[in-house]
Amino acid sequence: MRIVVLVSGTGSNLQAVIDAVRAGDLDVELAAVGADRPGTYGVERSAAAGIPTFVVDFKAYPDRAAWNAALTEAVAAFRPDVVVSSGFMRIVSADFIAAFDGKYLNTHPALLPAFPGAHGVRDALAYGIKVTGCTVHWADAGVDTGPIIAQEAVAVEDGDTEETLHERIKTVERRLLVSTLRDLAAAKQ
Ligand code: GRF
Repeated sequence: MRIVVLVSGTGSNLQAVIDAVRAGDLDVELAAVGADRPGTYGVERSAAAGIPTFVVDFKAYPDRAAWNAALTEAVAAFRPDVVVSSGFMRIVSADFIAAFDGKYLNTHPALLPAFPGAHGVRDALAYGIKVTGCTVHWADAGVDTGPIIAQEAVAVEDGDTEETLHERIKTVERRLLVSTLRDLAAAKQ
């Protein structure tokens, strides 16, 4: 199973995938890692690991449609079976998702459909919930919508800040992403 991973930031979820592949715990081919802006640590660490990388800079295009088309072309060049949005902070078009037969996987640091959007951890904390978690799902063209594949709960602790809670969620999120990819790869064989 060939995958292309899209990142906007540090890419610690991506690193978990890289580590699992290297350890022989995950039988997928990491075809490439792409970002929506230059200078991400996610791309830097992928290049250091010898993985092909690309950047389709959102700010370099006149509008979202042009950027979407360029992103679709860049990802398609690597012929992925599954595209993974791993901390990729852009909404892609329905055309993009259709180009990959709907195989666009997203991870989100909350129990969807609760707290979608860029600040899922902050919003959950502000609401005062006692249990949150993370979700791995097939993404459609909405904001963190689409069929759920896996979820796991994480308890909110007294004194949690957005940072401490997000870090505990990400520990679970990394494991859930790797195990979901493992299940998808096994189902493909
Ligand atoms: C993850 O929690 C992801 O779900 C959210 O942003 C975080 C990305 O973390 N959208 P990283 O870049 O993988 O470290």
